[in-house]
Amino acid sequence: MTRAIGVDVGGTGIKAASVDLETGELVSERLKVATPEGGSPGAIVREVVGLVEQLEADRATPLGVCFPAVVVHGRTMSAANVSHEWIGLEAERLFEDHLGRDIHFVNDADAAGFAEVKYGVANHPGLVIVTTLGTGIGSAMIYNGVLVPNSELGHLELDGHDAEKRASNRARESEGLSWEEWAVRLQRYYDHLEMLFSPELFVVGGGVSKQAEEFLPLLTLRTPIVAASLRNNAGIMGSAALAAGWTVPLSSGRTG
Ligand code: BGC
Repeated sequence: MTRAIGVDVGGTGIKAASVDLETGELVSERLKVATPEGGSPGAIVREVVGLVEQLEADRATPLGVCFPAVVVHGRTMSAANVSHEWIGLEAERLFEDHLGRDIHFVNDADAAGFAEVKYGVANHPGLVIVTTLGTGIGSAMIYNGVLVPNSELGHLELDGHDAEKRASNRARESEGLSWEEWAVRLQRYYDHLEMLFSPELFVVGGGVSKQAEEFLPLLTLRTPIVAASLRNNAGIMGSAALAAGWTVPLSSGRTG
């Protein structure tokens, strides 16, 4: 079995597990801690080191970490739901220094999107847009199996608002929206994405995707829209697979 470790740093929780790369299955316990209040670099790095130490002593095992920010050449260039101290930080190096090993460092939604192509429901020709509805809205754009990183479609400005502030799962929870009320906002959001990008498929991930039957049937779009199959483990699986250098050949025989 080829194994790698995946760590998914989110605005609310940090999750980690060991992954069988052939199947994408988690082959260890799935560890989870709350993201430290304020989301400062020191506090988050400490939690990640703690999780990795519990999982794996062998430093030769590939290790991927995904993070809720734009990631360019190992630097975090934004910080929507974590401390602003991350902006411009050499985050990959910071993690590597504290972990004492190399890591592969990517945006969380990109990792999740990659995992959905490799192990889930996003292996489809043409443009696929994977969105994760969580603390914010993450996005991954995949064209013919190739990921276009850092798309940040949660931050489109819509009706004068940062889209994720109105349509994320956190907005639903904090404003106490019914599924129907939230679906009105999702409809507006996905209509806009559809108008801009004309994708072949939308995949909706994030923890709330396990309740997809409550809100996806309320949406009317030209584009097929389906729930992610990997739910909240996609970030872990995608970071692990990317760390091991795995790529995603499109499955043969499928046409648009
Ligand atoms: C961040 C993205 C991230 C998404 C999901 C957004 O607020 O800007 O980088 O992928 O939240 O965590």
